[in-house]
Amino acid sequence: MSEIVGGIFTSHVPAIGQAMARGSQGDPYWKPFFDGFVPIHDWLGRVKPDVAVVFYNDHGLNFFLDKMPTFAIGAAAEYRHEDEGWGISGYKPFPGNPDLSWHIIEQVVAAGFDPVSCQSMVVDHGVAVPFELCWPGTRSWPVTLVPICINTVQHPLPSPARCLALGRAVGEALRAWDGDERIVVLGTGGLSHQLDGTRAGFINVEFDRFCLRHLATSPEALAEYDSLELVELAGSQGVEFINWIAARGALGDTVRELASNYHVPISNTAGATLLLEAAEPALA
Ligand code: DHB
Ligand code: FE
Repeated sequence: MSEIVGGIFTSHVPAIGQAMARGSQGDPYWKPFFDGFVPIHDWLGRVKPDVAVVFYNDHGLNFFLDKMPTFAIGAAAEYRHEDEGWGISGYKPFPGNPDLSWHIIEQVVAAGFDPVSCQSMVVDHGVAVPFELCWPGTRSWPVTLVPICINTVQHPLPSPARCLALGRAVGEALRAWDGDERIVVLGTGGLSHQLDGTRAGFINVEFDRFCLRHLATSPEALAEYDSLELVELAGSQGVEFINWIAARGALGDTVRELASNYHVPISNTAGATLLLEAAEPALA
């Protein structure tokens, strides 16, 4: 029987990818962020997942403003990384898991969601940077990928409550999957940041800390905000936190928090990582 082993939540800033390519992880600017991955590497070494279901957002690479799905689920045999303008490259192709992807798509449609199914899909730094953070320098990725893309770009965005519900439906689908995989769930993006407009540079430490405190135990409290309140509190790109809310939903009601890290700034962003272990056994 397959099992959801836990969730990894991390910022996906392109400059993190540039820092890894340069080998700058130990520099004073970067060390406080990369130190957050020490417990995550230990944990990954112990639980050895073989599938990663990744809730993330596309940044104008695979979807642009002319066609913007609210939810899109990859069902490809392989996903290539492409650089949408940040100068990061060289990521190995990500092997897909089409059987599991289609199972998830079927189950979430049955649960009342209407995702776009993508049998061909390229992924940007929202997937590639977190993969390289989790499994730096590996010759081949140790997990297959199911990418679940949430619109955080073109308003109206899905509400945090809807994202939590989607994540819960994905979690149900994973628990009903008749495989033997060990599944890790990733939520990428955030925390607070705003890259443009009059509030460019906006960071909200108090709200970020509130989110980090509540994600494990009371995600419902975070899902009470509407999308525009989230823009106000987290910044226009800080709304990427809805990817974290969806990923948290997939983990089931009870989780154990194993590690948390928060450092400001990483590039223009409040950099954060969180590691939650799933406490609910898979359904027999
Ligand atoms: C930055 C953060 C992001 O989430 C992103 O997608 C692009 C850039 C930044 O901090 O520069
Ligand atoms: Fe982003």
